[in-house]
Amino acid sequence: MSGGGERPELEQVPETALWTLWHRALEARRPDAVLHDPEAVELVDRIDFPFAERFGASGVQGQLQALRVACFDREVADFLAREPRGTVVCLGDGLETQYWRVDNGRAHWLSVDLPESVALREKLLPPGPRQRYLAADATDLDAWADEVDRDQAVLISAQGLLMYLPPARVRSLIAGCAERFPGGSLVLDAVPRWFGRLASAGRIRGRGYQVPPMPWAMDADERDKLRTASPAVVAVRDVRPTGGRGLLGALLPLAMTVPPLASRRLSVTVLDFAERTGQA
Ligand SMILES: C[S@@+](CC[C@H](N)C(=O)[O-])C[C@H]1O[C@@H](n2cnc3c(N)ncnc32)[C@H](O)[C@@H]1O
Repeated sequence: MSGGGERPELEQVPETALWTLWHRALEARRPDAVLHDPEAVELVDRIDFPFAERFGASGVQGQLQALRVACFDREVADFLAREPRGTVVCLGDGLETQYWRVDNGRAHWLSVDLPESVALREKLLPPGPRQRYLAADATDLDAWADEVDRDQAVLISAQGLLMYLPPARVRSLIAGCAERFPGGSLVLDAVPRWFGRLASAGRIRGRGYQVPPMPWAMDADERDKLRTASPAVVAVRDVRPTGGRGLLGALLPLAMTVPPLASRRLSVTVLDFAERTGQA
């Protein structure tokens, strides 16, 4: 299927934003969808891109992607329930439509992405009064951290981003967030090591598409190692998908607990940062 309208020209990693958008929309079109995302459905219809030819139309992939997204939505919704005027910083936001799924009418949202992705987002999803889009490298905290209002609570989200970054950059990004956002949290996802190896060898591909290299990967049972990025990372929590459909929905909870699958799966993790301590 190819929508009308805007014809995006994104390459490699920025193009992955079209992959995630497509799979959210694919799932959201179903009557028994596990994710309600009308904005994604409408957006796909507006974009002139051969989504199905390039990415396929796998219902399993759509559901898996939607369940991963739902983990992030849950974390953001919980944060906004505690901190209704908080700021959600979305690193590598691409064409995510999370704002339209979970905004509470009071929060502030900052999207940070590479210039070509932000340009497309601005055209297709113009920001509302409480949304801001910033063209910057997410790993360069000097470029975006000062744009965040420190008087309000902050949740940083890195959904579908870190796997594309060199491991040293992932570590310094986590450390930078922990040190600059005391009392804040970071929610991130990671592909397991076997998947990262295959992607980096160019072996995750379909008919028309090859997944870009994924230099950073982490098995789910390695999540505690993320603490070593900074002493300011004070808690690490696994976020598990819930509410799947059909056989996949029945097998997922099992896969979360039975080794070796339990550790060799895509994982979503929350890192909490220490509150600011007294000045030295
Ligand atoms: C897989 S997409 C994820 C998009 C969105 N978060 C989602 O889940 O639908 C990866 C996104 O990360 C962005 N990206 C990659 N490297 C980046 C970097 N160094 N800084 C900011 N954004 C980056 C890409 O442009 C793309 O929009």
